[in-house]
Amino acid sequence: MFENLLVTGGCGFIGANFIRYLLDDSDFSGRIINIDKLTYAGNPENLSGIETNYPGRYLFAKIDICNKDEVANIFEKYQIDSVCHFAAESHVDRSIVRPDTFIQTNIVGTFNLLEVARNHMDNIRLFHHISTDEVFGSLGKEGYFTEDTPYNPNSPYASSKAASDHLVRAYHKTYDMPITISNCSNNYGPYQFPEKMIPLMILNAFEGKPLPVYGDGLNVRDWLYVSDHCTAIWMIMKKGVRGETYNIGGSNELENIKLVKMICDILDEHKRLSDNHPRKELITFVTDRPGHDRRYAIDFGKLKSTLGWSPEESFESGIRKTIQWYRDNSDWIDRVKSGEYQSWIKEHYG
Ligand code: NAD
Ligand code: DAU
Repeated sequence: MFENLLVTGGCGFIGANFIRYLLDDSDFSGRIINIDKLTYAGNPENLSGIETNYPGRYLFAKIDICNKDEVANIFEKYQIDSVCHFAAESHVDRSIVRPDTFIQTNIVGTFNLLEVARNHMDNIRLFHHISTDEVFGSLGKEGYFTEDTPYNPNSPYASSKAASDHLVRAYHKTYDMPITISNCSNNYGPYQFPEKMIPLMILNAFEGKPLPVYGDGLNVRDWLYVSDHCTAIWMIMKKGVRGETYNIGGSNELENIKLVKMICDILDEHKRLSDNHPRKELITFVTDRPGHDRRYAIDFGKLKSTLGWSPEESFESGIRKTIQWYRDNSDWIDRVKSGEYQSWIKEHYG
């Protein structure tokens, strides 16, 4: 169905997990062309071994999606027939401090990709856009986001993703481009950059450093193990109705403070801090994030009833696997934390 699949942002957290899933575990039989700008969040090491394990089926080019000519070259050179668009600036805190790159990559970059895809419309079977539940804003104590929830984004990140969703939808309505969009809740799992809450807490807790919880710690997120996100995306790409959007969630609502305490308890089972203090003592309440959304919760009933998808991983098993992955991958952590991965990128890609 898809022979030459363009994946954007494939060296980031979810993109790398998705490429690994497609090649290792799915029925995808084509080739993947991964374009990534390799920002601080893009690490080719997240895909180590892939080129050798799948000769000819995985190609990489360091490209900024804001560079339309380079994107167009890729479409022509590899006869791209499908797109799975992950590339984005993804961290809410960064968007508060420096929104500029979020506007450029998330809005202008998505627009460029759509324009190039429009120029190759005869060949394009699908443009799948990866989005977030943050476009819906914040919930109170009750209720869930559905595909019909009005957009109400609160951060520059969420607004830029909302704008890109609207553009993708408009290319379907206006130009009849075959598109699908997925809006997913918070992901966690291997290869997540340690600025995001779960890996940040795990790594700080390993080292006995303070665990900074924003505000009162009662904000709620709906956590999804990254491999479940990957299976949902692939299912939507294969079977989703063109022009439609699908919500993806984990049915795992948790207050931040409970989650941090859970991480502490799991790490303490292995070994407490050197003075035998429990890690919960590291929790430090810090100034809240401006515009901090209170609660996210996803109703993924449409995806379940129409395509038969449900998440497989429970939070308990997913968080244990994740902690174990970070425990087993201290070299990856060291290179990310020291910035060595960035020196490697400079050396190889300039
Ligand atoms: P990430 O920050 O880990 O990775 C983003 C990737 O995009 C990096 O490899 C980066 O180098 C690349 N990139 C950034 N700007 C680029 C540009 N201009 N051109 C080409 N490549 C560029 O992000 P992630 O957490 O893997 O998120 C991937 C996608 O999923 C994003 O679109 C994000 O909005 C969405 N999403 C993330 C989550 C989550 O919990 N992480 C949940 C729902 C949706
Ligand atoms: O909901 C999907 C979104 O999830 C994605 O679209 C984003 O790309 C992804 O970054 C994530 O956004 P969040 O802002 O929810 O994730 P983050 O890991 O930054 O924060 C999770 C919660 O933890 C949030 O309520 C803020 C809080 N937090 C975060 C950090 C980094 C803390 O309390 N302390 C922290 O140090």
